[in-house]
Amino acid sequence: MSDHRVPGIPGTSGFTGKVALVTGAGQGIGAAVVRTLFRLGATVAATDIRAKAVTAAAAEPDPETGRAPSAGAGAGAVHPYELDVTDPAAVERTVERIGRELGPIDILVNVAGILRTAPVAELTDEDWAATFAVNVQGVFFTSRAVVPGMAARGSGSVITVASNAAGIPRTGMAAYAASKAAAVMFTKCLGLEYARSGVRCNVVAPGSTDTPMQWALWSDPQAPARVLDGDLASYRTGIPLGRIADPQDIADAVVFLASDQARHITMQDLYVDGGATLR
Ligand SMILES: NC(=O)c1ccc[n+]([C@@H]2O[C@H](COP(=O)([O-])OP(=O)(O)OC[C@H]3O[C@@H](n4cnc5c(N)ncnc54)[C@H](O)[C@@H]3O)[C@@H](O)[C@H]2O)c1
Repeated sequence: MSDHRVPGIPGTSGFTGKVALVTGAGQGIGAAVVRTLFRLGATVAATDIRAKAVTAAAAEPDPETGRAPSAGAGAGAVHPYELDVTDPAAVERTVERIGRELGPIDILVNVAGILRTAPVAELTDEDWAATFAVNVQGVFFTSRAVVPGMAARGSGSVITVASNAAGIPRTGMAAYAASKAAAVMFTKCLGLEYARSGVRCNVVAPGSTDTPMQWALWSDPQAPARVLDGDLASYRTGIPLGRIADPQDIADAVVFLASDQARHITMQDLYVDGGATLR
């Protein structure tokens, strides 16, 4: 079977006939990952705590293919599922259901995440617990439910969307940055444990990306300019490439790591932040 190729992602192959599970797929980066996997010919389980958001996104005609992702005809289809990644029983049930309805999961993309900002002294117990529940436990629950099946079949790919905040301290972001650093190391340990089983586990670390999560940080009209220029008062570097990422920039890195072209890449952390962390 020849692979479906898409202009803009040259040479990325290995998606036809594959089943992908994406968490946090209702908007922003998760929705872009779903669209891209769909265009590449994958069957995608688009999951989110907000079922209506994934159902609506799947019903909208795709601007590139003109086809509604939920139509299901030809290569590529999107199937919406409600899933709260903080609920381990729901994760087990939904993974089992996706396996039954769509087939064994080949690609897992952990995108669901939340951001609570506050100085440390003002972070509540609930802020801390909620942040770790989604950003860390969520990644653990989904990976634990999916990866043993991949290993039994001898192949699979996990990509965790973390953040460049995992690699550089940020004021007001202690809970978020700590949670993302935990998710990064969890994903790398997972990659080591399962390398001999043919399962690759990698991280994509976005910088500021044009989504509702980012918009929530913009308190005045100058905020996007401060993101680009940096802000010495908060010890924040700017973005050397001079632009805020589109969700598609992040999705392209995710699908590269999921593709056959990345077959010898595991336990890596790919920063997609326009150089913001000066790595
Ligand atoms: N936007 C940025 O600037 C940026 C930068 C670095 C990292 N990230 C990371 O990228 C990922 C996606 O971010 P985004 O900007 O698209 O965020 P977003 O807030 O726009 O979308 C996040 C999605 O996750 C879903 N979600 C939240 N809690 C959930 C749960 N318990 N179970 C399932 N789904 C849940 C939401 O309903 C939403 O659809 C997140 O992990 C985020 O931390 C974003």
